[in-house]
Amino acid sequence: MSWAVIGTWRMSLKGTEKAMEILRSGGSAADACTEAASIVEDDPHFHSVGYSGLPNEDGHVQLDAGFMDGDTLHFGAVGCLEGFRSPIRVARSLADRKYNNFLVGQGAAQYAAANAFEKRINETEDSMNAYNKEKGKNSPLSSYDGHDTVCFLAIDNDGHMAAAVSTSGLFMKANGRVGDSALIGNGYYVDSSIGGACATGLGEDIMKGSLSHTIYMKMKDGTSAKDAAAVSVQQLHAELMKRQNYAGGIAAIALDRSGSYGVGTNEPFAFTFASDQTPACTYFADAENGSTKIHVYQDTDPALD
Ligand code: GLY
Repeated sequence: MSWAVIGTWRMSLKGTEKAMEILRSGGSAADACTEAASIVEDDPHFHSVGYSGLPNEDGHVQLDAGFMDGDTLHFGAVGCLEGFRSPIRVARSLADRKYNNFLVGQGAAQYAAANAFEKRINETEDSMNAYNKEKGKNSPLSSYDGHDTVCFLAIDNDGHMAAAVSTSGLFMKANGRVGDSALIGNGYYVDSSIGGACATGLGEDIMKGSLSHTIYMKMKDGTSAKDAAAVSVQQLHAELMKRQNYAGGIAAIALDRSGSYGVGTNEPFAFTFASDQTPACTYFADAENGSTKIHVYQDTDPALD
């Protein structure tokens, strides 16, 4: 068996490198994904995840995260969590339970406090400056320049798979709004016997296609990770255009149990990948004539943090 890890956007590189260290030394996919997402949550340079995330319409950083174990199909998730350092760690701890796996708002915060998760004020000068600049404008909601959720999918040396996703969600979202990232089957889904998928982009549109589960089902039916991700995003994009005449930015990553990956996108997208065969590297992907074109990220490509 071999190991592999894939992450969304350029911001995932340090996380992918950390996951690589864990997987190379025989650690689990669950630990690799959790540690990887947690590194991004701690980095104030990335304004769409964790510390220094972008606030909601009331000026609060409300964080969503989801974790899934591909062996047991157990999942844990938090929505609109405020005031804690690592939503992904809180989400993962909820996966151990039989019930009450998805907590939101005050209930999620109560749970995190009762279980001694580290507190942190995630609103920073940068996030509040962005908020104050945007406040009062009547601009439509958008994800943060199209790049929002950090997602990781991994397979370890023993064939276990896991998924972890974390985000501050849409900038200026409504108080209490939860996006796809906390929702199993939408922002993430993984089954160690097949593979998994994670999504990033406009949550409301991703949810209309239950995107991660759709990609997973294609893989289950024998489609490669490459085609499952590319075709599912294209189909969802086409369906949204037909029915609502617009489609938000949507991108997805997929990884199968042999460590092969796939990417689908309807906008310029960056991702990182590492495996026992390939060093950690950042790639650029874009939709072209119905398929996804991928090359090693170059400085001339859009920033796509
Ligand atoms: N994809 C993250 C969100 O819409 O909240």
